[in-house]
Amino acid sequence: MNKNRRPVIAGNWKMNKTRDEALQFIYTITPELPKNTDVETVICSSPVLLRCLVKRQGENLRIGAQTMHQSESGAFTGEVSPVILKNSGVEYVIIGHSERRAYFNETDETVNQKVLAALKHDIIAIACCGETLEERESNKTEDVIKRQVVAMMNTIPADAAKEVIIAYEPIWAIGTGKTATKEMAEETCGFVRNVIEQLYGKAVSDKIRILYGGSVTPANVSELLAQTNIDGALVGGASLDSENFLKLVKAAK
Ligand code: 13P
Repeated sequence: MNKNRRPVIAGNWKMNKTRDEALQFIYTITPELPKNTDVETVICSSPVLLRCLVKRQGENLRIGAQTMHQSESGAFTGEVSPVILKNSGVEYVIIGHSERRAYFNETDETVNQKVLAALKHDIIAIACCGETLEERESNKTEDVIKRQVVAMMNTIPADAAKEVIIAYEPIWAIGTGKTATKEMAEETCGFVRNVIEQLYGKAVSDKIRILYGGSVTPANVSELLAQTNIDGALVGGASLDSENFLKLVKAAK
């Protein structure tokens, strides 16, 4: 972490938690959360729960969506628009998670359109990139990450770019218990920052937050967050348990 960049701990609940479980979780963590100025704490829930969680959103806890459509409205059955999210009080949205890319046909191009749409509606985008195991083993990590990052930032001006949060999530580390080593995570998050510097210069690359995601737990979070280029974590499994999630947030403080 770097003291000029506020750390972010974002929980991605994926398709988990009923309304009752979600509320219980929020009631448990809220009194214990550090100030938003110390750690930006975000929970990204299923769309059905967003409205109910936003009502419990406090100064120290923000609520996010896990995806959205790039259009403002229209005939897109089942989708949620940035206008609907913003109007419901949602402030963050995960864009281009590898599960969305793998199972729901999201491409570099749609990821870019969605980041642009989030920015337009003043929603903070947590835009994801990450390589498969095969890509890592054939030394293609940097090519893949560069392609994804350049594409997601396409046509985004510098002052908007620094508000985007980029999450580096190696696909082979998601839900597998195989975290990238702190060296690997730092190397690739540093590479993402270099790509941003090439695109926008140092004023933006020094400011943009880059998170690591993939089997982050209370046991490994401190060493990951100790790395210069890692400004926080995007967490799946360990964000489902209130005690574990609080430990992650406290480690970032
Ligand atoms: P895990 O923390 O369960 O590996 O999931 C990571 C992730 O996909 C967060 O978006």
